[in-house]
Amino acid sequence: MTKVKTTFFCQNCGTQFSKWQGQCNSCEEWNTIAEEVIQKTEKVAWKSSETLDKRVAKPQKIVDISTSADARINTQNIELNRVLGGGLVPGSLTLLGGEPGIGKSTLMLQVALQMPYKTLYVSGEESPQQIKMRAERIYPNSSNCFILTETKTQNIFRQIEAIHPNIVVIDSVQTLHTDNLDSSPGSISQIRECASEFIKFAKETGTPVVLIGHITKDGNIAGPKILEHMVDTVLQFEGDPNHVYRILRAQKNRFGSTNELGIYEMQSNGLREVDNPSEILISKNEEDLSGTAISATIEGLRPLMIEIQALVSTAVYGTPQRSTTGFNAKRLNMLLAVLEKRAGFKLGVKDVFLNITGGITVDDPAIDLAVIAAVLSSNIDIAIDKSICFAAEIGLAGEVRPVTRIDQRIKEAEKLGFTSIVVSKYCNLPKSKNPINIIKITKVNDVVNYLFD
Ligand code: TYD
Ligand code: MG
Repeated sequence: MTKVKTTFFCQNCGTQFSKWQGQCNSCEEWNTIAEEVIQKTEKVAWKSSETLDKRVAKPQKIVDISTSADARINTQNIELNRVLGGGLVPGSLTLLGGEPGIGKSTLMLQVALQMPYKTLYVSGEESPQQIKMRAERIYPNSSNCFILTETKTQNIFRQIEAIHPNIVVIDSVQTLHTDNLDSSPGSISQIRECASEFIKFAKETGTPVVLIGHITKDGNIAGPKILEHMVDTVLQFEGDPNHVYRILRAQKNRFGSTNELGIYEMQSNGLREVDNPSEILISKNEEDLSGTAISATIEGLRPLMIEIQALVSTAVYGTPQRSTTGFNAKRLNMLLAVLEKRAGFKLGVKDVFLNITGGITVDDPAIDLAVIAAVLSSNIDIAIDKSICFAAEIGLAGEVRPVTRIDQRIKEAEKLGFTSIVVSKYCNLPKSKNPINIIKITKVNDVVNYLFD
């Protein structure tokens, strides 16, 4: 009888240990080391007769290695292509992570259904009937998409050999298990082993593979950190499940920039690509409402006009409440302190609520000025003219600081019909004559004077 072999893995970073210990030496996390059965048998992962001979790689001159311009596979999904840097690269492994219910399965099923190639969608989470029901809503007539409900990699590879798909989607990597290991699906060693089998398969056959991955409470992809090192591209699908907008961004991309961003809207028939996000994120209210200000921000590489809403009211209880959605609460506190100290507004006794519409989260410091404008507008209950937008950072001394890519922001504001944009005096403004009126300010007091005097 063979002895059961076990090893200890850090559940956080995937480091292997021969015995249990309290703290991981590698990532220094406590209580993350767990025992897993690994008992290895002979490795028969991806093995095909045709590819066996090609296995032995020989060094070749870099000039002799051919790449063609049309090497990328068009996914028929403009936003996904953009985030991938132009399309799927043959033989690449892409990991798509995101919170449960955000729409990872929907997105990949939609892509699998729409592509004009033979696609295989492997699901370990849903039955073929469930997938069919979903597919009927999204894209009813697809003849190229195959569905397989299987979790054992050896069986998946057998089916792949039978139908030769051009693209493989695995939903999800946490449900996979391989016969080579005895540990349970979802464990560190299983995830790592299954992923490496698919990497081998992808590289040897040139078939792109997309792995869907679950994420942990703190937003990282569940499983070993090394999974992210193993794959070529890591995509993150995020958004507020209570809102309809979803953002797809690349965390790592071996074949393109990580600054690109894809925006989707969840509808009853799947995810719709949003090519002009600014127009939707700004509400089309006719009346002038106090407490709203529009900021020209940059998300990744895309300029976006977003609406900020503030509500300032007298605190009912002793401690005033500060609550934000889509904006850093600490940053709001800092901006309120600046307003109090540098502009003399007594906001310490007021409740302040701040909301970025559309359910998106913005880290761009360039929205500071719009946040201040919205807070002041709500405080004195005077609406800000709808044709004005803002793009500047606020410093602790109450100074208005320049922000990056001001020309892109100004262009986007122009495109959407704004007549004025408030920026820092120290911006490197484009030389060309702008049809938009650029208002240059240096201190927070200037914005108060400009807007409300
Ligand atoms: P799903 O793709 O199952 O999420 P994940 O795989 O990331 O866990 O998406 C589930 C949500 O998407 C679900 O709450 C319902 C919503 N949805 C729609 O609004 N419209 C649709 O056409 C589909 C398929 C899903
Ligand atoms: Mg899913």
